[in-house]
Amino acid sequence: MRSGPVTLLLSAFLCATGCSDSGGEGETGGAGATSGTAGTTGGTGGATGVTSGVTSGTGGATGVTSGVTSGTGGATSVASGSGGAGGGTGGAGGAEARVPAASASTMREAGEKANPPILIGAAISGSGLNDNGYKSVAAAEHNYVTAENEMKWNAVEPNAGQFSWGAADNIVNWAVSNRMQVKGHTLVWHNQLPGWASSLSGAAQVEQAMRRHIEGVMGHFKDRVHTWDVVNEAVLTDSDTGVGNPRMRPSVFFNALGEGFLDLAFEIAREQDPTAKLYYNDYSIDALNEKADFVYEMVKGMVERGVPIDGVGFQMHIGPPNNEAGGADVAANLRRFSDLGLEVLISEMDINRCSNQVTAEEQLAYYHDIVEACFQLPKCVGITFWGINDGRSWLNGWSGALCNGQSSQSLLFTDQYQKKETYNKVLDALLGR
Ligand code: XIL
Repeated sequence: MRSGPVTLLLSAFLCATGCSDSGGEGETGGAGATSGTAGTTGGTGGATGVTSGVTSGTGGATGVTSGVTSGTGGATSVASGSGGAGGGTGGAGGAEARVPAASASTMREAGEKANPPILIGAAISGSGLNDNGYKSVAAAEHNYVTAENEMKWNAVEPNAGQFSWGAADNIVNWAVSNRMQVKGHTLVWHNQLPGWASSLSGAAQVEQAMRRHIEGVMGHFKDRVHTWDVVNEAVLTDSDTGVGNPRMRPSVFFNALGEGFLDLAFEIAREQDPTAKLYYNDYSIDALNEKADFVYEMVKGMVERGVPIDGVGFQMHIGPPNNEAGGADVAANLRRFSDLGLEVLISEMDINRCSNQVTAEEQLAYYHDIVEACFQLPKCVGITFWGINDGRSWLNGWSGALCNGQSSQSLLFTDQYQKKETYNKVLDALLGR
């Protein structure tokens, strides 16, 4: 619930900026209004700009910050006087507001018909693809695929310099044949490394192995995979919930190369594919907590140094062992990252009900409100769920998830591939309901 003060502060700041401008640029606000037609609420700020001329600026600017608050911003600017320049910006905000489909019977259809479209993804496992029920729900409901394990370092390069593509190709080719996009997951990560890579040491050895791995994997999938998690989970806190002493995580990469391994990984990836979307991905950075703040500063530094990063993935594992995050906090957090000029996406969403730390009601509210937070932000380009059916969820057997042999009940489909109430909440949010 911290977004209230954040929005207010931002409005005050924008007003202060806009209000000091002369009123002569009021027409800029008019341009904003025209382009704002695509966004119902965001456009309102710009429209106010046209009507009230000189007083329009701040209203428009607030439209950028949040479509919902833009109307109020317009009113504020009337009270506070002149400032036309912001009006144009507000119009742009309106133009970019995502418009939901009028109707859709699947999440995939809702995502494809939204304007701009939003990708609806699932983590897909090789074993799942042996199950016809799984396969048909996966392809009917999603148009975006992340291999759950099959593209990780231990799977594709089990021996130094010897690549093994079978399991990964199987998933990627299935995705392509179903007109689904693929996100490559993941190039540089401390986990699921083969033994030989974990025991590397010294800057030269580690850099050489990292370069060969990134080039080998991206090169193999170049025609089929255009978005990559280049670095995964480089930041650590005392608690997995994202609280306590945020710092760079010790790993074979960090230990040998220092924080510079991040920049280097992205630069190698960019050399390998000049047009791919390159992402940083992490967990428990979903809300406004210490880890999210640390990652925000880290990524901001990368942007300022010109490191070729295109986006940030927010894993959105909600419930034990990770953080909980309400819709308003997620919205504010996604927005500040996208204000750095980056794409954002929800990359691994599930909501763990084990040990009842998240109640059934809370789970439904989280699913709706978090999906809505992404949907309302045009630069939030996709939402991937970490699996299809509850019985296959990784959380069921993950230490720290507190499941003790029970189902995490964390996803959108039952084991018979029936839609759960969680599915209905997600579809509602994708349709603007
Ligand atoms: C998980 C898989 O779902 C499990 O099957 C595997 O045993 C461990 O990894 N963050 C990530 C994912 O980036 O790759 C992880 O996937 C879940 C947490």
